[in-house]
This record gives sequence, structure tokens and C-alpha cells, in this order.
Amino acid sequence: MSKTIGINLGSHIITVYIEGQGIVLREPNAVAVDAHTREVVACGQDAINLFNKTPGAIELISHIYHGNVSDYERMAMVMKKIFEKISVKRPDVIFTVHGGHSSSDISAISTMMMDAGAKRISVVELPGVAVMGAGLPLNNNKALLLCDIGAATTEIGIVKGCATKLSHTIPYGCNLLDEALKNYIKSEFGISVTERTARKIREAVGSVHPDYNAGEYAFIGKDTVTGLPCESVITSDDTREVMVKFADYLVANIKAVIEKLPEQVVKDIKDRGILLTGGGALDGGIGVFLEEKLDIDIKIAENPIECSVKGLGMIIENKALFHPLILELSND
Ligand SMILES: Nc1ncnc2c1ncn2[C@@H]1O[C@H](COP(=O)(O)OP(=O)(O)OP(=O)(O)O)[C@@H](O)[C@H]1O
Ligand SMILES: [Mg+2]
Repeated sequence: MSKTIGINLGSHIITVYIEGQGIVLREPNAVAVDAHTREVVACGQDAINLFNKTPGAIELISHIYHGNVSDYERMAMVMKKIFEKISVKRPDVIFTVHGGHSSSDISAISTMMMDAGAKRISVVELPGVAVMGAGLPLNNNKALLLCDIGAATTEIGIVKGCATKLSHTIPYGCNLLDEALKNYIKSEFGISVTERTARKIREAVGSVHPDYNAGEYAFIGKDTVTGLPCESVITSDDTREVMVKFADYLVANIKAVIEKLPEQVVKDIKDRGILLTGGGALDGGIGVFLEEKLDIDIKIAENPIECSVKGLGMIIENKALFHPLILELSND
């Protein structure tokens, strides 16, 4: 019998769970191309390592745009690498899908996984999986709003028990914030930084609420006038103006989803609150910010980045119990 593996196909990190073994792999979802020939030279962590070693000669390419795969050929290379690394022969694969995935996106991803070596493919909807992975009780029959803030997208879902009742994707994610921070640093500091530096700054001191103040962070960039390397310091207060603008967009989208819900579901959410998962849940002050703007309790999952893959793991280890959540797409 073949083993089942769970894959959370994140724009930033792909995480893999193997039946009976647990989380075995976290691979950056990256492809490195030669800056001149545009040929792919490395995938996954190797791509990041190569880029760090020879930054001028290598470009890191993202092939997931707004949560959807934009370049299947490159994505397939990353998948092949992952299958090689885990060395599980012809696994049954379950992967998470979100509301923004069309049926043709899902079938293209499935084909890509079959090409990479999968035997059978099934999918589960992300919101319910993330709630499971956060360790929330599954016997509560009141609905809960899940907000999974990723690198490229945010999933706003309604979950009852572990069943996904609604799954809606919006183009909000940490990448947007990094881009905005990069532009802010250029205009306010006269320093050009990479998106990677912007990400490090956000992770270290980024703040969306005055209650969160992580002090200052020294960074290196290039003077926009002289082009020479230079160093400067940025504070949590500096980052807030930019980050709040985007967090407001998130609030507007959550409100828009809530407005369309039946009265009883809104009541449930007011009682149970909103669960935040995904890496963006770690942005400084995001919980307090959302709580104040929405007047609903916010709970940030413990280890929010791993909720989806942990939930996948729970499903894989208890397939008979969670069978209704699994949609089988292909048979060998
Ligand atoms: N301590 C931290 N503070 C703020 N952000 C963080 C922190 N740690 C990780 N992140 C952010 O989490 C993001 C990755 O989150 P996650 O793994 O949920 O995304 P993903 O699943 O790959 O993306 P998507 O769901 O959009 O496809 C990165 O952009 C990273 O900067
Ligand atoms: Mg994600």
C-alpha cells in the first residue's frame, strides 16, 4: 500500500507531512534562474543558497502569483525536487486548496504532482484544515471565522467543526507589505533595499499597532543617489504608517465577508471570534489591530505557520474519521 503525504503548497514555503512520520520537509517555494541566460539553475533551498552566494548572477523567481501557480513548468521542477528529497515511492498526495483556486488550477496542480511521481491525488479545503491544525475543539457546533494570512494571499473562511462552509481568497499577504516597506524606505530614507531585507525588517520590528513596539533594526541597502552601500536604522514606529494601510484593507475584506453571512453565523462568530493562522498572523500588533477595528475577539494560533500542515497530518492519520473532508481527484 502506498503512503499518504500531505502537501501545503504555500507561495513562500512548501511543507510536507508523511503518514506515520510527521512534518518532514519545509522547502522554500523558489526557483533560481541565471540572470543572463534565464535558465533554471536550482530549486527550493538550493535556489536560496545559490542566490545568497552569487546574488548578481542569480535571480529568484516566484511562480506563484496571488496564490495561483503562474508557471507550471517551474513549479513542477520544485515538486520533483521535493519528491526526490522525501524519497517516498508513488505516494498518495493530499494537498490544500483555497477559495481562489479554480477547478482548472486544481487540475493543473494535480497533473503536475502526478508528473512528479504521485500515485493518487486528493484535496482538502484550507480553512477547516487550518482550524484543525490550530488545535481548536472540533465538537463546537458554532461557526468560526478563519483568517489565514500567507505570503501572497489571505484566506477568509467560515468553519463549523472542521468543515469548511465558505472559503474566500483575497490578494493580501506579507509580500505586499514587504513591497510597500521597500518603497517607503526608498522614498523616506533614500535607500534602496531588496524585498528580502524588507521582509527581515518587517519580521523583526514591523508593527500595525502602537501597542507593539519592538524597537529598532539596523539594515543595509544602497544609497539611491550614489549607488553605494549604506547602513541605516528603522523603528517599529516607522513601519506602522505603511503596514496599517494594508491592515485596513484586510479589515475591509473581513467586514465584507461578515456582512454577507446569515445572522446566526454572525452571532456564532461574535461568540467564538476570529482565528488567525499563516505567517502574517505574526506581524506585530495585528491581533490587537483587528480586534479594535472589528470588535470581535481575535485568537492567534500557536505556531500559525504550521497550522495547515498539522491539520493535513491529522487528516492523514485519521483518514476514516475525516473522510468527508477529502475530495479524491484521481485514481491510478
Ligand atoms: N515572525 C514573523 N513576523 C512576521 N511575519 C513572519 C514571521 N515569520 C514568518 N513570517 C512571514 O510569513 C510569511 C509566510 O507565511 P506562510 O508560510 O503562511 O505563507 P505561505 O503559505 O507560503 O503563502 P500563501 O498562503 O500566500 O501561499 C512570510 O512572508 C514571512 O515573512
Ligand atoms: Mg499558506
